[in-house]
Amino acid sequence: MLKTVLPPACYTEQSWFDLEREKLFGQLWLFAGFTYQLSVDNSFITRRLNGMPVLVQNCKGQIRAFRNACAHRGMPIQTEPCGTRKMICPYHGWGYDGEGALRGVPNGTLYGMCQAEKDELRLQGFAVVKIGIFVFVNLSAEPINIDDQYDEAVQRALLAISANAAPQASYTHFEKRFNWKLNFENILDWNHFQFIHPNSFAALLEYEPSGALKRPNSQRSHWFGPEGELGEVQMPSGHQDLNQLNLRDISRVIQAQLPYEPRWFSSLIEHTADPGAFLNLHLFPNLNIGSLNGETFYVQQLCPASPNTTDVHSWVFTARLKPDAAFAPHLLWGMHHAEMNVIQEDAVLLVQLQEALESADTVGVLGSQENHLAAMGIWYMNHLKGTTEQ
Ligand code: FES
Ligand SMILES: [Fe+2]
Repeated sequence: MLKTVLPPACYTEQSWFDLEREKLFGQLWLFAGFTYQLSVDNSFITRRLNGMPVLVQNCKGQIRAFRNACAHRGMPIQTEPCGTRKMICPYHGWGYDGEGALRGVPNGTLYGMCQAEKDELRLQGFAVVKIGIFVFVNLSAEPINIDDQYDEAVQRALLAISANAAPQASYTHFEKRFNWKLNFENILDWNHFQFIHPNSFAALLEYEPSGALKRPNSQRSHWFGPEGELGEVQMPSGHQDLNQLNLRDISRVIQAQLPYEPRWFSSLIEHTADPGAFLNLHLFPNLNIGSLNGETFYVQQLCPASPNTTDVHSWVFTARLKPDAAFAPHLLWGMHHAEMNVIQEDAVLLVQLQEALESADTVGVLGSQENHLAAMGIWYMNHLKGTTEQ
């Protein structure tokens, strides 16, 4: 039975965007960066999450997250995307400790502050969770348990990828003129591969005569070992009551068959963890991770900037290289070139889809193979509509 997609207003109107900021991005765990960027004392990353400047910093071995805004005048404490520097505001030099408490005020007598006033001033802190190399931040004062957002299969996949990932990555970021949900839905929509990526990504995969992606022969991911069956991560079937889905059902791990052929760099890889499989993690709301044979990986982070613009952050990296293999930056560059080619193939159409939605007065439909898109839309509407009319 056909189901409807979300109304166009959800992709175009500020009122829906504001609701998302309050009820999605203000409440859910958001991917913020990688532990390897935070490996030494005072190393940090900054990111705009839910429109808010966020600082994630290694404070004497503990990963902490704060609003990147000084308690004095609101200046960002760290102004670079990443680096290693103490939490000292560049404007007037106020310094903060690992709990976000104000510790140093140069020329302090000029301010005439009493100790009680000083004690009140601190950076606003946020909850942080690490799953392997993946760092998540929650902007809510009462964060949900991350187990309620990502189920065990998702967390195991994140840990397995982390255990195999090399610490060197190629990174870029760019802004695209489309609503973040178009990108997220596009990632869930495997039936577009053959039409938009016929000579790139689709050429790597194999298909059933029906057009469905072929599952890997084993139906098991090597990531999960002999006990790690992936049956539990099948997409919602037509028999499932989509209204009963919970947040954990929106994020999923899927696999497809990816005929394995060793590449020129395969001999450099310490362990080809998942030969013959494309593993894809769609992590609602802002993260997309793919593994090709367990040898190469991509990570995309979606940061909504406005109803019709999304900041996309993109990384590629390999599995760990053999100890005697020389680091090969040209390998990462080549991977990123291929990744950007696929991203651009999608973006050309998603920008046009966004433009069309801005004047649309009809609502589209989803078929049964798109139940996972419908599931996201139904959960989204159920979660948001408590405070607005559709
Ligand atoms: S704004 Fe940070 S010290 Fe003044
Ligand atoms: Fe695509």
